[in-house]
Amino acid sequence: MYFTAPRNDENPTVRPLARAPEADPAFRADVLRGLAQTQKAVPARWFYDMRGSQLFEAITQVPEYYPTRTETALLQAHCPAVAERIGSDATVVEFGSGSSIKTRILLKSMPRATYVPIDICGEFLDEACAALQGLFPALRIVPVEANFMNPVHLPLRQDGEARSMLGFFPGSTIGNLTPEAAVDLLRSMRETLGTNAHLLIGIDRVKDPQRLTAAYDDAQGVTALFNLNLLQRINRELGGSIPVGEFRHVSRWNPLASRVEMHLEARRAIRFEVDGQPFRMEGGETIHTENCHKYRPGEMRVLLAASGWRELEHWTDSQGDFSLILAKADGARQEP
Ligand code: TRP
Repeated sequence: MYFTAPRNDENPTVRPLARAPEADPAFRADVLRGLAQTQKAVPARWFYDMRGSQLFEAITQVPEYYPTRTETALLQAHCPAVAERIGSDATVVEFGSGSSIKTRILLKSMPRATYVPIDICGEFLDEACAALQGLFPALRIVPVEANFMNPVHLPLRQDGEARSMLGFFPGSTIGNLTPEAAVDLLRSMRETLGTNAHLLIGIDRVKDPQRLTAAYDDAQGVTALFNLNLLQRINRELGGSIPVGEFRHVSRWNPLASRVEMHLEARRAIRFEVDGQPFRMEGGETIHTENCHKYRPGEMRVLLAASGWRELEHWTDSQGDFSLILAKADGARQEP
């Protein structure tokens, strides 16, 4: 993992990030371990190479994928109230910043903010920061290339400035974790951000399973390309011989776990190698690649409370499809 050094205030340019020249050993280890399991699985963070990050942005534009446009409208309606509550000079820390498009809405209301985007794809992060800096020339940007699922060290100056901290976690990314892992992450965010922090989080709601599965299986096939890109990345970076054309993208609702699952299903029995190791799959067997947990409003409140966050505001759209929640670090919880 690599962190950028803090920048000085006079020179608000984006620093280029260092990148590993060859395959990430953690990628190799995750893939080899995941493919050896009875239910084959690859952790979802490996979706996000350059092409995966680009395809992901395209998913957010397809008609079936309602979360992005619903959340965008909620942010437009409520960010002014958030800024008023927190102060327009807060430090905004975004977990999994991607294109930072939604952040523009927030930063419009917070012109004196410092922005700390955390993303796993350094190349994509560079581009997003450069675009954002163009739109907000005076914005101080401190990019961090990291997997935000691990505790992240924020490269901010410890100069005693008591700016308020606002965690920004849109896109229902919290739903990509199991509820147990979600609690762990929300707790560690609270520790990273400090006792007086706020959190602005977007979470998708339980609804008609048909709408839910369609959101992850669009008619244009962009989500399918996104899912299949993982196999291409394995072939390219780990010397794999996976016959990508023999796989089918699958989106299914798991009612017991309250989540949409994405899988890559083998159309027929196949054999392939990754990094010199042989694997075989039966026809119909799948590689599990993503979970998108959906919550009911009361469950969201419980999830936050269990991780030391108290819900202050809970906004939704007219159809009740999506939640935007402003929470505050719960001071009643004991510091370790
Ligand atoms: N967190 C969002 C969701 O669950 C976006 C997302 C994450 C996503 N991984 C994805 C969307 C894979 C489509 C496919 O909806």
